[in-house]
Amino acid sequence: MKNSAAANTLAAFHAGILSRSPAATAALAAALARLLPPDTALALHGDLGAGKTAFAQGFAAALGVTAIVTSPTYAIFSIYEAPARQLVHMDAYRLNSPADADSLLLWDILRSPWTLLVEWPEKLGDRLPDGTWHLHFEILDDTSRRLYLRREADCHCPPATP
Ligand SMILES: Nc1ncnc2c1ncn2[C@@H]1O[C@H](COP(=O)(O)OP(=O)(O)OP(=O)(O)O)[C@@H](O)[C@H]1O
Ligand SMILES: [Mg+2]
Repeated sequence: MKNSAAANTLAAFHAGILSRSPAATAALAAALARLLPPDTALALHGDLGAGKTAFAQGFAAALGVTAIVTSPTYAIFSIYEAPARQLVHMDAYRLNSPADADSLLLWDILRSPWTLLVEWPEKLGDRLPDGTWHLHFEILDDTSRRLYLRREADCHCPPATP
């Protein structure tokens, strides 16, 4: 993607992008997969059913992952060796405390170039890697979501306007 196109996409994500379907969320994920620098964690913030896993599925597909990407709630994380990048998809929902994450040895598993997607990043406390990007999912109605990209955990998202 050309630099100006990338800058436009990032600006749109910062302002908040509307998705009106799971397929649209997957397409947004593909756009971000092309932009996110290697060796970056992307924290996916949002309520149950917000579309975090749907986003991860689109992101994985864009990287060329052919395996079926499902919610790794019980395994905590799944590793996909995509052609150009290692993708690790984590769902921290069931962690009892941030310290529990240490025993997973996740940080030892990452092999450059990698991308780490984290659902329920709040459960990791301050254990997210430096430079983590943050994507906030706002549920507007049954089929609409708004996605805000931030470089910090606080969204300061504008009030919802469907
Ligand atoms: N615009 C949309 N984007 C994403 N998902 C949508 C959208 N509209 C409706 N949905 C539906 O919302 C649900 C999102 O489920 P998903 O598992 O991705 O959520 P999640 O954020 O990962 O939830 P959890 O916290 O339980 O893991 C799916 O049933 C999907 O079909
Ligand atoms: Mg999920």
